[in-house]
Amino acid sequence: MSTMRAMICAETGREANLSLHEIARPDPGPDEVLIRVRVAGVNFADSLMLAGRYQDRPEPPFAPGLEAAGEVAALGSTVKGWKEGDRVLAFLDHGGFADYVVARAQDLHAIPSPVDDPTAAALGIAYGTAHGSLVWRARLQPEEWLAVHGAAGGTGLASVEVGKALNARVIATAGSPEKLAVAATHGADALIDYRKEDLRDRIKALTAGQGADVILDPVGGAVFEASLRALAFEGRLLTLGFAGGSIPQAPANIVMVKNISVAGFYWGAYRRRAPARVAQQMRDLFAWLMQGRLQPLVSHRLPLEEGAAALDLLRRRKATGKVVLETGG
Ligand SMILES: NC(=O)c1ccc[n+]([C@@H]2O[C@H](COP(=O)([O-])OP(=O)(O)OC[C@H]3O[C@@H](n4cnc5c(N)ncnc54)[C@H](OP(=O)(O)O)[C@@H]3O)[C@@H](O)[C@H]2O)c1
Repeated sequence: MSTMRAMICAETGREANLSLHEIARPDPGPDEVLIRVRVAGVNFADSLMLAGRYQDRPEPPFAPGLEAAGEVAALGSTVKGWKEGDRVLAFLDHGGFADYVVARAQDLHAIPSPVDDPTAAALGIAYGTAHGSLVWRARLQPEEWLAVHGAAGGTGLASVEVGKALNARVIATAGSPEKLAVAATHGADALIDYRKEDLRDRIKALTAGQGADVILDPVGGAVFEASLRALAFEGRLLTLGFAGGSIPQAPANIVMVKNISVAGFYWGAYRRRAPARVAQQMRDLFAWLMQGRLQPLVSHRLPLEEGAAALDLLRRRKATGKVVLETGG
């Protein structure tokens, strides 16, 4: 029997619930592909899954990891269009924190040869979410004011870059001067430290009293509530997640009186319901990357066995851009 290393969660709901195990290497089903993982992307959602607080709740034991860059190691009997050795970015229900993982063939995307594995892994979910929320849901227009919360995080920094690539005027908000400096390096036009400054007042001041046309919110809580009051006429507030921990309410009277829209965006739903759309999105994003319009930041590259430490960086707000795990394979 062939074996592999995997970071396994034996029980959900506890803090330090991830450890390295040697387990059997999986076989792909008929419409699946076995991927030799080189780099796994680390997401806030992995922590939520380990805590048993994510929308998908796999039965332990399982390995977390929603995206991986690597190469095709074996093909299921009905899979067409891929061959062993192809370099791919794979999206996963979970399992990326391992030497090998099985993915559905429809969830594979070719990595163009100039793009390295850490960059491909950093592009995946973060830029897919940024692009999908801004283009598909918010319909962001050139010259509109876009405010991005948590703007130095994985999804936040990707949203700053995608916003600039779409020719919006981008306000980055984050919780420290160091993080705001990172957002500025990646193109943000204006900066707000939401631990020190009043979000609504500053956004209004930056937009000549009008408010932001689009606000992207992966943080939730008080940041979401202030955003409702910082939107322009016919503004769109996109809720992406609740990294701050609390799930806010949107009072319908404010939504009505201000003529604003509050919309949700969950990229994983498109992966399942509209794979062809995601495939086109990934081709577009890789093309933008190679044109120099996107520059994903990987702040930490850790070995696979440090998966728990990698997640801790996100929990303690120590990461900027993306954190990735490398298998050394
Ligand atoms: N809807 C979707 O399709 C989708 C896709 C990807 C991610 N998400 C969601 O987006 C959020 C960010 O995910 P990510 O992977 O980009 O995570 P990340 O890189 O860790 O970024 C999260 C950011 O949130 C801010 N934050 C505020 N309060 C926090 C707290 N108590 N703990 C941790 N961070 C806090 C941090 O910025 P400051 O320190 O500057 O405040 C941090 O940079 C998560 O809620 C995730 O579930 C949603």
